[in-house]
Amino acid sequence: MIGKSLVSINDYTKDEYLKILDLAAKYEKQPKQTILQGYVVATLFYEPSTRTRLSFESAVNQLGGKIIGFSDTGTTSVTKGETLRDTIKIVSNYSDLIVIRHPLEGSARFASEVASVPVVNAGDGANQHPTQTLLDMYSIRKTQGTLDGLNIFMVGDLKYGRTVHSLLMAMSQFKTTFHFISPEELKMPDKYKQHLNDLGLKYHEHKDFTDIISEADILYMTRVQKERFSDPIEYEKVKNVYILKNHMLENTKDSLKVLHPFPRVNEITEDVDENTKAYYFTQALNGVYTRQAIVTSILDLN
Ligand code: CP
Repeated sequence: MIGKSLVSINDYTKDEYLKILDLAAKYEKQPKQTILQGYVVATLFYEPSTRTRLSFESAVNQLGGKIIGFSDTGTTSVTKGETLRDTIKIVSNYSDLIVIRHPLEGSARFASEVASVPVVNAGDGANQHPTQTLLDMYSIRKTQGTLDGLNIFMVGDLKYGRTVHSLLMAMSQFKTTFHFISPEELKMPDKYKQHLNDLGLKYHEHKDFTDIISEADILYMTRVQKERFSDPIEYEKVKNVYILKNHMLENTKDSLKVLHPFPRVNEITEDVDENTKAYYFTQALNGVYTRQAIVTSILDLN
């Protein structure tokens, strides 16, 4: 991973996932260091973000590095017609590593091909979100004590949700049994199910999860990705299909944890927040340590 871009979760091996998670655990114990002193990380966000951008920036700041970048292309020369290629080539000369979020699938791969510094994909359209996956894996291992042999329930928008796509690819290396709960219109795409078939892994598709929730180790809730719908009426039909309420967690495993990459809209009612099985706020905090591990590993500083 040294000097290499992280565009797809498949860019890393199973051993590399585990190295990042182990390193993240060290950063959790000591997040404030000077290891990134003298380094500049650029965050180029062509799409809105709260957690990913700010946790990357917090991660770098806490390690003594500097951040440059933008969160609104309206203040940049993109509005004058500058291409992604030119922006990336220019910012390569201003920074040691580029973190990019962009609405187009494949944009981060393209950026990595034209950049002279490593590029980290912070989400490209409905495709992948590999750093989210690493923090999700960190959260899963920390709460379950293992990554192996778990029942992971993925609920909501499995078609457009890039976090579930990356998580499936990574967790398919750990003998996971997947349960996909979605409306017909938002089912897990065939290419991901084919990947599980090729590995001989079990997956089950459901329309509802209330009867089977007692089997879950991880309940991974997701938002319906409004911004990916071309027809607003189609979004209205599916936006509130799954809403997790506190009483629904009554007959679940003691060790169950509820994850959500956030932002949530209506998928989890606020009464769940006080339940000890709700882990999504700590999950977002884990993003700081995991991203510290990712940045410093790529820059070969550990
Ligand atoms: N989880 C996540 O990607 O959140 P943001 O869109 O706020 O970065």
